[in-house]
Amino acid sequence: MTSLSPRFLSLAAAGPETPADCAAELAAGLQAQPAQVAPKYFYDALGSALFTAITELPEYYPTRTEAAILQAHGGEIAAALQAALPVGFDFVDLGAGDGAKAAALFERLAPGRYIAVDISEGYLRQALQALQRRFPALPMVGVGLDFAARLALPEGLPAGPALVFYPGSSIGNFAPPEALRLLRQARALAGGGALLIGADLVKPVAVLEAAYDDALGVTAAFNRNLLSHVNRRLGSDFALADWSHVALFNAAESRIEMHLQARRALTVRWPAGERRFKAGERIHTESSYKWTPPAFEALLREAGWPEVRRWCDPREWFGVFVATG
Ligand code: AVI
Repeated sequence: MTSLSPRFLSLAAAGPETPADCAAELAAGLQAQPAQVAPKYFYDALGSALFTAITELPEYYPTRTEAAILQAHGGEIAAALQAALPVGFDFVDLGAGDGAKAAALFERLAPGRYIAVDISEGYLRQALQALQRRFPALPMVGVGLDFAARLALPEGLPAGPALVFYPGSSIGNFAPPEALRLLRQARALAGGGALLIGADLVKPVAVLEAAYDDALGVTAAFNRNLLSHVNRRLGSDFALADWSHVALFNAAESRIEMHLQARRALTVRWPAGERRFKAGERIHTESSYKWTPPAFEALLREAGWPEVRRWCDPREWFGVFVATG
């Protein structure tokens, strides 16, 4: 059989991602009180590899729990989706990465086209070429886009009611107002189709904190590696050994917070500025919100999805939601 070739569209130019913009954003965050760096700076090549390693850690339950839910309830989930989607629907994968999570659903869902969206264009190109070899007859489109800023695809994509797939509890990395905005945009994108989304749920604090501070120190390396990335982007002189990894559950905000904490008083310098840190002062690098099932269902409804169904693991640690209507 002759194989199709994936098509690529780059919307990078539409985003605020020039080197000067990045440097300005980083400098502003470092000078803020408290200092902060956006979590997208975790994902340079090494950071992406470290994240893949995190998903294999015994303490990091979300990835394998979501996969187990999709496996255990795949038939029911597929039936709920197919009832809301036309034959030959477009499958839009947000934050596609290597496309493996989507590919695991292709056989059951039989989409007409796969539209993979990811901020990391180079990685997406390679991933789609490999995926196309496995699924030679499925048309594939790759879109390089930072959809966290704004989720809008080029004219004609998708065509008709579509499935929007947003797994991995990545929605948890948005504060609730931004999550609501993104889910509204996802609804507009789906055009009357469906959303299949994973969300991490509230659970005992010890389980949550271990998931973000594993015994092997992979998450600590992932967090500290952000400083190497910042050094390259900003020209700053962070010394990684000066910073400790901190992960804690903020119950009032229902979120895990990751911080980097200065081990001593120090000054970080970059070409156009500097910031002094006291010993113990922190840089906030990530929030990962944890939802209760009713609160996440209410969020989906508020975003305009009237019909919501949920599947969980027996411990109710993770939820897979289908939103339609
Ligand atoms: C990508 N995101 C869903 C992960 C999370 O759990 O919030 C990122 C992560 N940070 C530390 N470990 C994993």
